[in-house]
Amino acid sequence: MEKINAVITGVGGYVPDYVLDNEELSRMVDTNDEWIMTRIGVKERRILKGEGIGTSFMAHKAAAQLMQKTGANPDDIDLVLVATSTPDYHFPSTASIVCNGLGLKNAFAFDLLAACCGFLYAMEVGANFVRSGRYRKVIVIGADKMSSMVDYTDRSTCPIFGDGAAACMMEPTTEDVGVMDAILRTDGKGLPFLHMKAGGSACTPSYYTVDHKMHYIFQDGRHVFKYAVSLMSDVTAEIAKKNHLDKTNIDWVVPHQANKRIIDAVARRLDVPEEKVMLNIQRYGNTSAGTLPLCLWDFEKNLKKGDNLIFTAFGAGFTWGAVYVKWGYDGVGK
Ligand code: UT7
Repeated sequence: MEKINAVITGVGGYVPDYVLDNEELSRMVDTNDEWIMTRIGVKERRILKGEGIGTSFMAHKAAAQLMQKTGANPDDIDLVLVATSTPDYHFPSTASIVCNGLGLKNAFAFDLLAACCGFLYAMEVGANFVRSGRYRKVIVIGADKMSSMVDYTDRSTCPIFGDGAAACMMEPTTEDVGVMDAILRTDGKGLPFLHMKAGGSACTPSYYTVDHKMHYIFQDGRHVFKYAVSLMSDVTAEIAKKNHLDKTNIDWVVPHQANKRIIDAVARRLDVPEEKVMLNIQRYGNTSAGTLPLCLWDFEKNLKKGDNLIFTAFGAGFTWGAVYVKWGYDGVGK
């Protein structure tokens, strides 16, 4: 039997209209454009406004665009996977809400939580469902409404994050393209450095947890920065070496958009020039599970069949890894 590869056959995306730029942020907390640009690299981020609107709103928009671009029939979708840390509800899953909104009758759907590494994990999970031969159309979504857990009085975290979602279609192929390799890692020792203190089963919500701001992102930035630089650099170098990739045949690096300095360090380690690194942190900030597919959404028109892409991400857990993708089609616009 011929080997089945899982290939990305389309990309859809969505970012909210509201733009929170550094100027407005500087009126909310003691910060300024120069500090944010030199230390993080974010100029503006999108914020999802509106009562009762959660992550599924953006995930649905991204997936609907994907369905329209790929001409997919809703009855043919087998699986919807949503990587998110900001689900609409603890339960049911955001994926089930998206499934309903898209009118999918023959799909199953579930969420996957790996923080900022969520889409990277979801790509490999989705690819394995396709490789099994049992599922033919899998929608993999990365979506986060980070503004729902950002403390906009905390200048050490609020400039970093934004809201957004993007989605990819994964399908089987016998061609030598698709998700070629993945190195994924988890180290639970990262818990103290990046987490939300309350709201889960270990620390249930109460007046105390609300009064003490325990429903926001807590981050020991310096510590996380150090780990992100070294673990992302190591894992991208490892996957490149394993697959005989170097600066001569890597076409694109697709890095998690957490901090421009982290992205630069990863690119330096691979010795890949800036123009081969997908970058949109300046416009969207860190949309957590949304960053990697939003890069694809923005750069899709530049991609050619056979291009070698290395994805890499790092997030709470800690979770991190790298995925090697051989692109499956010549670029199309949004
Ligand atoms: O996506 C999930 C993974 N997350 C990450 O990868 C994030 C990793 N961490 C980072 O990106 C960086 O650590 C931050 C962007 C969070 C912070 O940058 P930093 O260069 O590590 O700054 P710092 O926390 O060491 O703070 C340096 C100084 C401090 O002042 P002093 O103590 O030196 O006087 C801060 O109080 O900068 C100050 N500062 C600010 N100043 C102006 C912190 N935030 C701000 C701010 N505006 N927004």
